[in-house]
Amino acid sequence: MEKISEIEREKLIFDAKSAVDGQPIDWFDELYHMADRDSKMIPWAKMAPNHIMMDWVEKNCQGGRALIIGCGLGDDAIGLERLGFSVTAFDISKHCIDWCKERFPNSNVRWLVGDILNPEPEWFENFDLVVEIHILQAIPDGGIRERAAEQMPKLLSDNGQLLCIGRLDNGGQTIQPPPWPLQEAWLKDSFDMLTLTTFTEFIHQDSPDVTRYYAAWKN
Ligand SMILES: C[S@@+](CC[C@H](N)C(=O)[O-])C[C@H]1O[C@@H](n2cnc3c(N)ncnc32)[C@H](O)[C@@H]1O
Repeated sequence: MEKISEIEREKLIFDAKSAVDGQPIDWFDELYHMADRDSKMIPWAKMAPNHIMMDWVEKNCQGGRALIIGCGLGDDAIGLERLGFSVTAFDISKHCIDWCKERFPNSNVRWLVGDILNPEPEWFENFDLVVEIHILQAIPDGGIRERAAEQMPKLLSDNGQLLCIGRLDNGGQTIQPPPWPLQEAWLKDSFDMLTLTTFTEFIHQDSPDVTRYYAAWKN
């Protein structure tokens, strides 16, 4: 898929934020609406499952019920369905969820509009695998991000696993937020009620100047 430039990425996000007066979360729905089914307008859409997630899940999970937080255009949910999971995927944006349903009409993924700040009651202690990719880093700090992180461990079943993937703040990166790269200490503190099983830094060949991480915790 054609890659957009950093300037184009900032412009798309700026336009969406302006249209909804800079609201911290509402601009996502505006961006999906403005894209009008053109995935090139969605800066994070890769139109394929995240390969770090797929590799990690294949090595560390045995199926069961999975929840994708902030599913975007849905490829990660479809990837987990292919690996045999029963998948629930939600996003705060209704336009985004409508788009997922159109893209994958034959999938059994449960696509839902939802907010990680206010999870559905039946999700608590329900999932063997909870995945967040580029969600915490997309939510501003100052309270909201902390509230989002607080909910995630509560969704895990006994022995359930949480997988987080995103940009790592190693002090040396400059980016016009969002996203806000996350600090290792903040991530570890946020989930210290769980057992950390991996915290791995990596660099993707497409953006060698960006430090990324994936981390997993077990209940
Ligand atoms: C940077 S995108 C990442 C999407 C997808 N995980 C990916 O990696 O392609 C962030 C996504 O989180 C969604 N989102 C933002 N705040 C949310 C919230 N409070 N609850 C659920 N989804 C949210 C946005 O609508 C958007 O689809």
